[in-house]
Amino acid sequence: MAGCRIIIGQIGMNKLKVSSDTSAFEVPAVLDETGKLANDCVRQALAMMDTHGLVILTGLLSDAEADAGLGLIRQTVDDPDRNRCAFASQTDNRYQRRDFCSLPSSPPVTQFAATLCQRLEAVISPYCGRPHPLLEVTTLTSYLGSSHQYIHRDPSGVISMFAAVEDVSEQQGGTVFVPGTQLFDGAKHKHGAEATAMMELFRTRCNYTILWHNLKKLWGMRKSAEAPLASGEFFDRVFSTKWDEHQPNLTRFALGKNSQFSLRMLGPGTLWKLYRRRKALDKMFALIQTAPGKGTVILYQSDLLHAGPDNRAPQPRRFFSMSLARGFVEPKLWHDGYSPHPTLKAQPMSFGDLLDCPTHSAPSGVPDDHAEALVS
Ligand SMILES: [Fe+2]
Repeated sequence: MAGCRIIIGQIGMNKLKVSSDTSAFEVPAVLDETGKLANDCVRQALAMMDTHGLVILTGLLSDAEADAGLGLIRQTVDDPDRNRCAFASQTDNRYQRRDFCSLPSSPPVTQFAATLCQRLEAVISPYCGRPHPLLEVTTLTSYLGSSHQYIHRDPSGVISMFAAVEDVSEQQGGTVFVPGTQLFDGAKHKHGAEATAMMELFRTRCNYTILWHNLKKLWGMRKSAEAPLASGEFFDRVFSTKWDEHQPNLTRFALGKNSQFSLRMLGPGTLWKLYRRRKALDKMFALIQTAPGKGTVILYQSDLLHAGPDNRAPQPRRFFSMSLARGFVEPKLWHDGYSPHPTLKAQPMSFGDLLDCPTHSAPSGVPDDHAEALVS
C-alpha cells in the first residue's frame, strides 16, 4: 500500500519526505504477438519518460524470465573473481554492505539483455540509435547496513534500466527518484527560469538530511547485533581520506572533497536560499521510492536525480541493471562513469547488436521452457 516515510536528521530543516506512491509513473506491461511492448504501452511509457524522466513497467518479465535473471546474478556474485564496479560506494563494497559488479558478456547474459532491449525497443529507440554502445551490464546487490547514497545524477546521455528479478520491498532499498529533474532544454519552461538552480537546492537539502541519516545509522550500528560494524569500518566510513562519494565521510565533507555533497555547498547564500525558497521547493519537487515487484523494469534518463537507499531489511536487495548510450561516448568518460566487464570492453556491443541478437525468451505471462535456457 502506498504511503510515505520520513528521514529525519539532526536539526529542524532536514526532514525528508519520501512517497512510496509510484502509480503516476507506472505502466502495466502488455506484449503484442511478437513479444514486444504493445503500442498503447509504448505511448504511455514514452510520455512518462519525456515528462518525468522515468517509467516503471510492471510485469515486463515473466516469473521464469526473472528467475533466469536471478540465476545470472547469483552465478556472478558467487564468483570470487567477479569484476567489482568502481562506482556507487567502494567502502560499502569493501565491507560487504553492497556488491556491485559487472556481468560478463556470456551468451546467457547477452540473451537476457537482448530480451529486455527487444521488448522495449520502441521506448528506447527515440533515445538510443542502433550504433550507440552498451555501456555496462551489472548487478546491484545491497545488504543490511549499507549507506543511503546521496541524491545524484549519473553521467548524462545514457538510458539506464533496473530489472527486478525478485520482489524488492521499500525496506530493502528500492531506488529513490526525483521525477521531472532530468536535464533537458524544456526544463526552464517546465520549472521556471531558475529550474537548474532549484534542482540543485533541492538536492542539497536532501543530501544534508541523508548525511545525518547515515551518521545516525552508523552510530547505532556500533551496538547492533543484526549489522555489526567490522573492524575499522566506522573510521573508514566517517573519517577516511579515501575517495568515496556516498559515505557520511566528515573528513571529505569538511575538506570539500566530495563532489556529491560537501561543506562548500552550504555557504551562507545557499542556506538563506534554502530557507527562503523552502515552500517553492516543496511544490516543485518530490521524492518517490520504488518497491518493484518481480518482473518489473524501471527505465530512466541517467541525469534524473536519484539514489540507491540503504537496505534496512535482512534480505539482500538485488537488481539486474544495464545502460545504453544516447550518442557517441568518449571511452575515457565511459570507463570512468560506468563499469563495463572486461569481456564487453574487449568486444563492444551496440544497441543494434542486442536488437539483432537471438533470444530464447517467451512473452511475459506465457509459460515458457525457453527462459530457463538463459541460465543453462
Ligand atoms: Fe546512480
